[in-house]
Parts: sequence; structure tokens; C-alpha cells
Amino acid sequence: MTTKRSGAARWVFRAQQAVADHRFRVRKPGELPPPALREPGDTSAPLICKAVFEEVCVLANGDVVCSCADSVGLRVYGNIRRQPLAEILAGPMFSEIREWQLASRPDRWCPAISGDCPLRVHRATALDTVAGHLPRMLQLEPTSHCNLKCPACPVTEFGTDPRYTADRTGSLTLAEMIAIFEALPSLEKVLFYNYGEAFLHADALPLLRWLREHRPALAIHISTNALALTAARVREVVAERLVDRMLFAIDGARPESYARYRVGGKLDKALGAMRQMVAEAKAAGTRDQFEIWWQYILFEWNDSDEELAEAREIAAGIGVPLEWVVTHTPGASQKFLPGSEALAALVGGERAFRALSCDLKGAEIVRAGGYEALRHRADIRPRLTALSGRPGERVLLPVTVRHDGLAAWGGPGAGSYRLGVRLLDAGGRTLSELRGVQVPPGVLPGAELAFFVEVDLPLTHGAYHLLLDMVEEGVCWFSERGSSPAICDLVVVAEAGSSLRPPDLVEPALAALAGAVENADLAEARAKLASGGAVEDLLVLLRSRDTLPLSAELDLRARLSADLPG
Ligand SMILES: C[S@@+](CC[C@H](N)C(=O)[O-])C[C@H]1O[C@@H](n2cnc3c(N)ncnc32)[C@H](O)[C@@H]1O
Ligand code: SF4
Repeated sequence: MTTKRSGAARWVFRAQQAVADHRFRVRKPGELPPPALREPGDTSAPLICKAVFEEVCVLANGDVVCSCADSVGLRVYGNIRRQPLAEILAGPMFSEIREWQLASRPDRWCPAISGDCPLRVHRATALDTVAGHLPRMLQLEPTSHCNLKCPACPVTEFGTDPRYTADRTGSLTLAEMIAIFEALPSLEKVLFYNYGEAFLHADALPLLRWLREHRPALAIHISTNALALTAARVREVVAERLVDRMLFAIDGARPESYARYRVGGKLDKALGAMRQMVAEAKAAGTRDQFEIWWQYILFEWNDSDEELAEAREIAAGIGVPLEWVVTHTPGASQKFLPGSEALAALVGGERAFRALSCDLKGAEIVRAGGYEALRHRADIRPRLTALSGRPGERVLLPVTVRHDGLAAWGGPGAGSYRLGVRLLDAGGRTLSELRGVQVPPGVLPGAELAFFVEVDLPLTHGAYHLLLDMVEEGVCWFSERGSSPAICDLVVVAEAGSSLRPPDLVEPALAALAGAVENADLAEARAKLASGGAVEDLLVLLRSRDTLPLSAELDLRARLSADLPG
């Protein structure tokens, strides 16, 4: 594939590019293969990538491609030097790929790159149409040149690998970059980097300045190796607030391990630029206006406990958070593997998924059973295997639910979740849906929640079952996406059964509440619980008044749960 590679020693940046060959270039309309046929009866929503529906990527030679997934330029939608960007976006090449994705079997293969795409993971909604939208996000490659030679980066092979055209390298002019932004009035965010080092571009700062003046609401994100950032430039970036999110790519806390991947780089210099940026912002009183991250890719040579501890210490001294990245490229850490306990301990909760490079995320999605399984997996355990009571009685069923997916349940702008309950007859037929329990927003993978499901028993004696399953409102019951629901037997008898009732929980609930929530209104809580209200109602009430932070709620639920028979 490349004149520079010798056997397995050479690296490729993306798995699909290892198989994508330049012969697969799809540069003209009408060259896509027919849509991949769906299985009969498959009515699930199409799987699309946002890249061709609401984003765009412009390479340093003016080629318009879908995203960073196409570093080679296998499917070029047009070139801004030959055609206005607006025309390219409205052209047949974009409509064609959207139509193809909407009509095809929902899997991750994409003809644009002749391989599985880590970005084709979104379920289409009614808003995703063949016409598309004006892009909300732009990935802009101001220059393809770089001052480093990171072994897994395509930049190092632009001049030698035959997959890349002779004109793959270059730089956009300031006027060209401005024209791109002028053609994208609905843009919300720009990633001012792709392959290459943005700050090597002589007009990087003038462009950012133009953006601040003409597009003040635009979010500007930059990833940099920091080596072209002089002290004067850092000062200007901070004083003029030329970036919103700056990622410093520094893979190591020791000069030798850092330079093993950042070939040609100097650790002191990179750290110095990051330190200066934080210091300038602090001095100007604008630190909260910048998101500044130290991005640390975990390799075999920089992942010792000692070096990670040193990185944490340096980061704390500078005042930046560390963003650990698990890479798929050769040399990747064998200690912090996707799904490993070591990774979860290093980054915690949902971040373990977020820490993965795109390709690994894609692999995890497949492993989890599809994109939807990222969040639609729960381990539901009723604390009682059987419940009994008199006809019409209200009883409580304690249930523990563990989030077994890879993406959070709810949170800002996300859906809402509920523990759903169905009443089944003895033969398993659904009789009715009972009142479920609302889940607090922002529950991270791995978290365990304790619930108290209120069940109004049927009026007729007999044997029943309760089916418990998580629900994403308006989307699905998790069991429709392959998660296992739980079943609890239910017997309605003439005499009192073995169930827990609200009064049994009053004292433990109040004690736990007092410990978990400062200034909780215990009088109100006591009255509510004593009058037969369920513990769940109390939690929902407190949550709706913003008096119960998620951490306190989880703590409270755990304590209450510990007080129950199990
Ligand atoms: C190609 S670089 C270009 C921007 C800039 N030169 C830099 O290095 O930050 C884009 C992003 O890819 C990341 N990257 C580089 N090598 C990587 C690897 N082997 N695995 C995962 N991400 C990598 C960089 O850290 C950066 O955040
Ligand atoms: S610094 Fe960035 S663009 Fe340059 S070779 Fe390394 S990863 Fe690629």
C-alpha cells in the first residue's frame, strides 16, 4: 500500500483505510453501488452518519469530503477552488449518499470509504432527509503540513502513500477560509484542525479573529501539538478569546516517552504553551471562558502508574483536566483496554466509552449489539422474587437496576427514562401497564439505582406476574433492543401477604434522607411518607425542586436499599 511500509511495521490511522484502496475512489455522481438490501421485515430506522446530513469537512487542498473518516479523499464531493461550497452542498453527490444511507440496510458499511465507518452510528429521524440541512459543524483543515511525524498519522504518508493524490498536501488561503464560513450561515461549531497542525498556518490567528468579529456565537475547537504556539501567539489567543476549547495533544509526562509518538516534539515546549495559556487566562480573569484540556493518548510506553501519576501532578499544577485517549493504533496501551476495569478505574463511568478513539468506539458499538445498545442495556433485579397482598391493596416492590450500557441515561438535551411495569396474567399475557418509576437524568454506565415500585394489586384473586423493564420515553422498551426484562411473581390472596408497605420504610427513609440531603424538609417528608406516599414520590418531589442532586439521590437510594430485606 505504501512505499514506506515494511510488513506489519507500518501503521495505518484508521482500520477501514487499511482496506480502502485508491481504486475505490467514488468521485462522480452515479458511482455508488445500489443500497444494501434490508432483511425482510426490518422496519428499524436507517443508520446514518451526521457527517453527510449536517456536517462538512474541507481539506487543505480545497476538496470537500464527509469528515476526518476520509483522510484520503476517497469520495470528494467537490472542490471549493472549482465550485462554490453552497453549490457542492446542494449538489447530487451529497443527495446521493444521503439517499443511499436512508435506503440501505442499517449497518456501518459506507461506500464512500469502502469500509465500516466509525461515524455511521446514528438512527435517522424525520429531520434527516435527502435534501439535508445546511451544516451545523465544519471540520476545517487549514493546512496539511505538520512540524511532527507522529507514526500513526496519515500526514506522515501524504507524500509517499499512493492512496493520496499528489495534491493532497497544501494550505487554504485566508480568503478561501473566509468564503467557506460565509457559505455556512447556520454553522454552530468549527473544528479548526483535521490532519496537520493548524497553528503552522500563517493566517491561523487572522482567521480566528475574523470569526470572532463576524461569527461571535460560533464555538471554536482546536487540537494542537502546541509546538508552533509562540508566547506572543498564546497571549493573543487568550486576550482576544480566539478559541473556546483547546486540546493540547501531549502524550507523555516524560521527555523520552512523549517523543516516542510525538516524533520531533519537545515536551517542555508543549507543556510550556499549555501552562502559559492557563496562566494568561487566570491573570486576565477569563479562565472560565476557555476549556483547556491535556489530551494524553495511552501507549505501551507512557502508561506506567508512575508516569500517569506524574502527569496528574503536572496537570494539577497547571490547572488542566487530563483527557485520556485509548487508541486503536499500534503501540496502544495493553493495560488500558476498551471495557477493562483498569480503564474504568482511570477515567470512570461513561468516560470509559468517551475515552475511546473513533474506531474503537465503533468496535464497542458492534460489540454491544448496535448503537442503540449503548444505552439500552439494564440489569433489573427485583429484591423479592414474589409479592403478595390483598385485592386492591397498594404494595411496594424494591428493585435494583444497574445501567449495563455504554452511554448515559438522560441528561441535558437527552431523552427521559423510566422503569416500566406491566401486569401479566399467569400465562404471561399483558393485562395492563402499571405506574412505573421515573429515573433521574444523567445516570452513568455502571451506576446502580434502587427503586421502590408502587403496585396497585388487581381486584381479583389469583396468580399474576409483574414484568419490569427500562423504557426510554418515546423510543423503546429496552427488551425491544435485546436487554432482558425481569419477572416477579405476584399472588393476590385474601389474607395479608409478605409485601413491604410504605410505613415500613418511613423511618429508614427519613434517616437516610437526613444523612444524604442537607437541609431536607424532614417534616414534610415524614408527613408524605406517613400518609401512605411512596418513597419514590418523595424522591421525585425533591428532585423536581432541585433540592436533591443526583449524587445525593443515588446515595439515598443505596442507603434505603441496604435497609431492606434482600
Ligand atoms: C491528526 S491530529 C491534528 C491536530 C494536531 N496536529 C494534533 O496533533 O493535535 C487530530 C487529532 O488526532 C489525534 N491523534 C493523533 N494520533 C492519534 C492516534 N494514534 N490515536 C488517536 N488519536 C490520535 C491528535 O491527538 C488530535 O487530537
Ligand atoms: S502533530 Fe498532529 S497532525 Fe502532526 S503528525 Fe502528529 S497527529 Fe499528525
